[in-house]
Amino acid sequence: MKIGLLGCGVVGSGVYEIISQNMSPMVEDFEVVKGLVKTPEEKILPYMTNDASEIFDNPEIDTIVEAMGGIHPAYEFITRALNAGKNVVTANKAVVAKHLNEFTTLAEVKGVKFMYEASVGGGVPWIKSLRQAMRIDEVTHIGGVFNGTTNLILSEMEEKGLSFDECLKTAQKMGYAEADPTADIDGIDVRNKLIISTSIAVKKQVQAEEIMTYGIRAIAPCDLKYFKSLNKHVRLYAEAVIEDGKYCCRIEPCLFDVDQPEAGIKLNYNICSLYGKTIGTLKYIGQGAGKLPTANAIVQDLLDIDGGNTALPKLCFGGDAQCGMSMLEGCYYVRYSADVADKLEAAFDGVEKTAVEVEGAKAFVTASIPTISLHDRIESAGVGVMDVFVTRI
Ligand code: NDP
Ligand code: HSE
Repeated sequence: MKIGLLGCGVVGSGVYEIISQNMSPMVEDFEVVKGLVKTPEEKILPYMTNDASEIFDNPEIDTIVEAMGGIHPAYEFITRALNAGKNVVTANKAVVAKHLNEFTTLAEVKGVKFMYEASVGGGVPWIKSLRQAMRIDEVTHIGGVFNGTTNLILSEMEEKGLSFDECLKTAQKMGYAEADPTADIDGIDVRNKLIISTSIAVKKQVQAEEIMTYGIRAIAPCDLKYFKSLNKHVRLYAEAVIEDGKYCCRIEPCLFDVDQPEAGIKLNYNICSLYGKTIGTLKYIGQGAGKLPTANAIVQDLLDIDGGNTALPKLCFGGDAQCGMSMLEGCYYVRYSADVADKLEAAFDGVEKTAVEVEGAKAFVTASIPTISLHDRIESAGVGVMDVFVTRI
């Protein structure tokens, strides 16, 4: 297999390392012919180029690995490769979440493979497992801690009492964070991963605006202190339920009892779970971010392409499930600054709630309410993003 690598950063360099160092006898016949970077000529290594035509105009290259990130020019490069009859493997959840249907259909028409295992759960073999589960079951629940950066932040703040910024810096240094880490901390990266997973499960391209999303930007030590007093750990949790022709998706900080598997997920680890009628619950745990685990997932896709793995069913997009925003509910911890107390408390007028003691701030816990109602109420309060922090409890 002759590979053109688009992007030689954290992930791309991991792919190059596994292949060029022959880390497995199974990759002996693989060769990275060229790797694309943005860096000016004088700084790049011999296998690299900053001229995309050196990859696209090389007829020897049969497979493209895209590990650049972002929508443009990743979208153009992926469609160009598929149109030219080249297989594509990508780790880029942002572009896959937006164009999964289009890429899958185009690859089918062109008789090539489009694979994206690394885009969700990094090294965790989640996409294949989800698609495999769907050979027998309809998947009715998807759940998971799908982001290594926020998981490192939450678990290190909890365990070591470190600050949010210190933990984010560590995640960046380790190569876990996105180029713009707001995608991690505001839940956008998880949203892309949930879009991909749910689109597979409902056989339809799910849209970003259908996913109720909160991130962890506003978490403070007082929140963690309160959660500790409950003997619980907080994780940024993504969830989709699919029932009676409808689906509903949410991403939010969520509390887990210390003995639940999600509570034990630390650092860059992810947990990805599904429920199907005959298989019951399946949970997969592994490194969700990082150079070699993610590169491993890409090389596994390359091996499947090379070996002609056709055991998974064709991914079709004829599903007619509708988004039902009010299917999910929960009890919520809402912590807010005294400055916005009037607005926020007014927005929750009529909701049964109990005030809780939190150091230096105001907080209450609601009775079970629809998640969409929580979002509507907080939006109607018109408070700043740092003024309020919510967690499902
Ligand atoms: P990096 O920023 O480390 O690397 C990006 C690479 O792409 C760099 O080599 C960069 O060139 C190159 N590049 C970016 N834009 C262009 C462009 N327009 N033209 C040419 N080259 C370009 O990112 P990561 O390796 O961390 O991430 C890559 C993708 O993998 C992203 O989609 C990310 O979401 C995904 N991913 C990342 C994981 C991780 O743990 N890091 C895990 C799972 C998925 P240069 O070096 O010159 O800047
Ligand atoms: N930024 C992502 C994370 C990379 O932290 O999980 C892996 O998708």
